[in-house]
This record gives sequence, C-alpha cells and structure tokens, in this order.
Amino acid sequence: MEHCFGGPWTKQKLKVLEKYLKAYISIFEGNERAKKLRRVYVDGFAGTGNIFKKQESAEQLSFSDVCEFEEFEADFIPGSAKIALELDPGFHRYYFVDSNRKHVQNLDQLVQSYPGKKVDIVHSDCNTWLQKWCKSNNWYGERAVVFLDPYGMQVEWSTLEAIAETQSIDLWLLFPLGQAVNRLLPENKEPPEHWAKALDRVLGTPKWRQEFYSKTTEPNLFNFQDEKTMKCVSIEDIGYFFVNRLKEIFVGVAEEPMFLYNSSNCPIFLLCFAASNKVGAKPAVSIAQSIIRKEFTDGR
Ligand SMILES: C[S@@+](CC[C@H](N)C(=O)[O-])C[C@H]1O[C@@H](n2cnc3c(N)ncnc32)[C@H](O)[C@@H]1O
Repeated sequence: MEHCFGGPWTKQKLKVLEKYLKAYISIFEGNERAKKLRRVYVDGFAGTGNIFKKQESAEQLSFSDVCEFEEFEADFIPGSAKIALELDPGFHRYYFVDSNRKHVQNLDQLVQSYPGKKVDIVHSDCNTWLQKWCKSNNWYGERAVVFLDPYGMQVEWSTLEAIAETQSIDLWLLFPLGQAVNRLLPENKEPPEHWAKALDRVLGTPKWRQEFYSKTTEPNLFNFQDEKTMKCVSIEDIGYFFVNRLKEIFVGVAEEPMFLYNSSNCPIFLLCFAASNKVGAKPAVSIAQSIIRKEFTDGR
C-alpha cells in the first residue's frame, strides 16, 4: 500500500528526527555508563516505512491541505520507521505502533529487511498502547525516544502525561497547529462543545478558553449590554501556549519549537521536543534545540 501525505515540511520533520536519533545514539555509545542502558525507539504513528507522493486520493485525511505532494522530488522518501531501522548502531528494541491494518502489514514486510533488529509491530491505537506501556515498564536501566507523528489531533494529553511520568523518555511530537487546532477556534465565538472537548483532550486543560478568547460588553442601540466574544491569539500564540503546557509536565522542553509551514505560509504543524529524564534533559534539549534552529534556517 502506498502511504501518501505531507509536503516539504515532512522532509524537514524527518531530517530533524534523524539528526536527533543519530546524536542520541552517539552520546549513549560514547559514554561508558550510558552505553549500559537499553535504548528503545517507539514510533507511535509509524506509517508504512515509506512516504509516497502519489496516491489515488487523500480522502483518509481530514484536511486536504496536508497533501502537497508535488513538493517531493522523488516518488517516495523513507518514513520514520525506516529511518530508525537504518541507524547502525541503532536501538536495542523498536516498537512500531499503527492503527491501520494495511500499514501494519507494510511494516511487517519492511522489518523483514532488517533481520538483526528486535522489532515489535503493534496494531493498536497509539494512546491506549503507549499509556499502558509507559506505566507497565519499570524503566530501570532503560531509556527511550518516542516519536508521535499523527495526521491530526490524535495525541491525547493523558498520553503525554504518561510519557513524562516515566522520567526516561525523550519525546518528539508533531502538534497539529494550523492544520487542526486553529481551525477549531472560530474568530467571534467560542467553539461548539464537541470541538471544545476535543481541544481539552489535546491541550489537557480547559484554560485555553480564557487565554484564547476575550469577552467585552458594549451598549447596544437600546442601551442594553451586549457581550462580545473575540479570539485574541495568533496561531503562533497557540503554539507557545502548547509549549508552556509541555513545560508543566516535562523537566526539559525546547523553548523554540519548529514551525512547519505549507505553501501558503501557514504554520500547519509544530514540531516539539520534550525530555523527561532529570539528568539527561539539559543536554537533550540543547541538542534538539540546535538541530531545530539549523533545520529551520536551512529550510526557509
Ligand atoms: C502521518 S502518518 C505517520 C507517518 C510516519 N511517521 C512516517 O514518517 O512514515 C500517521 C499514521 O498514524 C496512523 N494512525 C492514525 N491514527 C492512529 C492512532 N490513533 N493510533 C495509532 N496510529 C494511528 C495512520 O494509520 C498513519 O499511518
């Protein structure tokens, strides 16, 4: 099955991930104590291993502008699962999670080409599996990198809390900033209840209502007071609101996430980095931040 989505930002995002995974492994390999730790890579929205530029339709995606295939030079590029498998030395164990049965079959095929790697392919909803995995592991002598690369608003805040609680995971997360979250925030009224609930699940708090909307009262023609509700944040403000939310639960967070733009110059995604290990967070954030800065400058 040809898995098709994305645009130039897809390559940028994967480049950042690849650079970080390489740096992570080289640090662990270069330090006698860290070398003894078992390294795990988890791809929570693993895809198929390849990303194709052509497909019969993009109907499976909620918003058509997540597909700007023409920007790819080649017919396909390696996806995150393949990038992680190609690393040598790599991780001691890999978990590839995807809720799409066909994607899981593709991953099964992909893994055949890497007989030396210990890989578990999990057909599941990422939130369910990841929360269980984070809580059931005792994390002794183990560290992990988790990559969460959803199409839209699939990642629940409770999953991020479970990751942060492990104190052992470095997280890369694609936050659907302009692609989904901003679209659920109308300009002159608060979102309807079911959109608001979806935002609560992703942001993990109802506080966005006060942060994103201002209420004023004005006298109308009959001198009654009319209440006006207005959105009072830019897309970028929403992104930084999310970064600040991450800072409430992770010990280290990259303060300057990577804004990923589509061809209309809309920041459709935000690539965020957060670290949960007290000892490792500072160097991890510093490496992640410098990779983001470099890729952002190169990509503009
Ligand atoms: C943007 S793609 C991931 C691409 C992949 N990271 C890559 O680089 O090739 C999103 C993937 O998430 C899967 N997916 C969607 N909802 C999911 C969920 N709730 N849990 C796990 N996987 C999900 C889709 O089937 C799809 O393969």
